[in-house]
Amino acid sequence: MGLQNSKQLFKHAIENNYAIGAFNFVNLETLSAILDAATELNSPVIVQCSTGAIKYAGIKEIAAMVQAKADNLQVILNLDHGKTFEDCKNAIDNGFTNVMIDASSLPFEENIALTKQVVEYAHSKNVTVEAELGVLAGVEDEVSASSDDAKYTNPQQAKEFVERTGVDSLAIAIGTSHGTHKFAGEAKLRFDILEQIEALLPGFPLVLHGASSIPQDMVKLAEQYGAKLKGANGIPEEMLQVATTKHNVVKVNVDSDLRIAFTAGIREILNTKPETVDLRDYLKQGKKYVTEVVKNKMISVFNSAHKA
Ligand code: G3H
Ligand code: 13P
Ligand code: ZN
Repeated sequence: MGLQNSKQLFKHAIENNYAIGAFNFVNLETLSAILDAATELNSPVIVQCSTGAIKYAGIKEIAAMVQAKADNLQVILNLDHGKTFEDCKNAIDNGFTNVMIDASSLPFEENIALTKQVVEYAHSKNVTVEAELGVLAGVEDEVSASSDDAKYTNPQQAKEFVERTGVDSLAIAIGTSHGTHKFAGEAKLRFDILEQIEALLPGFPLVLHGASSIPQDMVKLAEQYGAKLKGANGIPEEMLQVATTKHNVVKVNVDSDLRIAFTAGIREILNTKPETVDLRDYLKQGKKYVTEVVKNKMISVFNSAHKA
């Protein structure tokens, strides 16, 4: 119980055919909303911050909030998309238990060298490491979000990468992408590539980024109160169920779904109760919808409820 690295949790997830949701947070409300769902469902959970979120909220504040709430839960605190050794070292030195080094935009050999450097430091502090191979289209890559732009992970390279770096988990590109608009046409994931990777790396923990499903009820609610999200779409839940329960995908990253849910709640209260200036009124509603979205994932998509 409590804050821990990914070793035991990913092993348990692979052996028991479920995945652990990795949810982004930026403040106390979004963190509490995620942890409320994990508590209610007795589910393991990964809470994560991007470097942008760290800049916004403060690394010491983030670590203190998570530590204050982690005691009776199985929680991993992850750095999402660390770009440099210093990003990762800063997170490790401040109590993060898993870090992602995202050097996927660098040439293969440079990605290996930087990942190895992070693995060496992290492992000396009992922190586990995720790396990425293949490029997802999306916000942090500064290209438009379209699955057509994704450069899929090469299975042979994935095997070599894992062996040479000693990394603990690997984010792969099989057609997911970051953001609220994922597919121009029909949703498609390259399960054939996933299977090839698994054949070469049996039992190795794999990660999907850009895995929001963009729940249409939340999109409609947000739009009803003025949000402009025309054409927003995500990864169908059925596809994620297959990836998480029948494959070695053990970590699934979700940010956009929570952003939409939180925004919908705030918009709803500001619209229906325009006289309120009590922040708690609308923050509470945003928080409530985030908890609902997270609970639905834990129960119906990742199969992680009652696994803690
Ligand atoms: O993958 C990126 C996450 O959605 C975090 O986004 O850098 O705007 O915090 P952010
Ligand atoms: P979404 O934009 O699909 O929520 O992905 C989030 C993510 O991958 C964070 O690293
Ligand atoms: Zn990501």
